[in-house]
Amino acid sequence: MHNLNDDALNLLFRDARTYSAWLNRPVEDDTLRQLYDLARWGPTSANAGPARFLFVRSPEAKERLRPALSPGNVEKTMTAPVTVIIAYDLKFYDKLPRLFPHNPAMRDVFANNPQLVEVTAKRNSSLQGAYLMLAARALGLDCGPMSGFDNDRVDKQFFAAGRCEDCEQEFFPEGHVKSNFLCNLGCGDRSKLYSRSPRLEFTEACTLL
Ligand SMILES: Cc1cc2nc3c(=O)[nH]c(=O)nc-3n(C[C@H](O)[C@H](O)[C@H](O)COP(=O)(O)O)c2cc1C
Repeated sequence: MHNLNDDALNLLFRDARTYSAWLNRPVEDDTLRQLYDLARWGPTSANAGPARFLFVRSPEAKERLRPALSPGNVEKTMTAPVTVIIAYDLKFYDKLPRLFPHNPAMRDVFANNPQLVEVTAKRNSSLQGAYLMLAARALGLDCGPMSGFDNDRVDKQFFAAGRCEDCEQEFFPEGHVKSNFLCNLGCGDRSKLYSRSPRLEFTEACTLL
């Protein structure tokens, strides 16, 4: 078993902060591809990988996002080099024959149980969003996650049926993708950070049985 050294642990956890202000440094598309290439290896139920990631980069796309944002999240989002919409595909089970080939019955377990689909998609897309943030930090990017926005508006704007005709992504046109949370990405401005808030101690948050 190998351990990451302290520098790596600091980068991923101890020194990693939630950023609201950004330095004027772009994030290349190639970096976003590397980001997904790392994050996709995190575990999910039945290896389903229900998360879908929409990287909002252009000023035009950012303007489509603006009306859905809570007032406190507008400035930080509009100035961030990239805002990822972490979403989930409610038809994730259609890809299970490829992603979970050793149990072909799994597709129908989900297809016949919408409640299970919903809880699985939400739980695992949240996990995948966390994997994405850790991958971003590992690549030297900073993150600013947000749930302060109108999910329905985002879904109508970015995932509604037939609203994204020139997208390459096969999951857009049918309207079965829903937003979970947002995450700004870029090079954060450390000088604008508040001091770090505390975290619960081991004895408060954990139990050893
Ligand atoms: C799922 C999620 C939703 C969040 N929503 C918002 C938000 O809408 N607006 C905001 O300013 N910060 C938001 N935050 C940021 C948290 O307040 C922040 O991560 C936390 O206080 C820890 O800050 P630190 O990483 O700098 O220690 C959110 C964080 C997470 C993980």
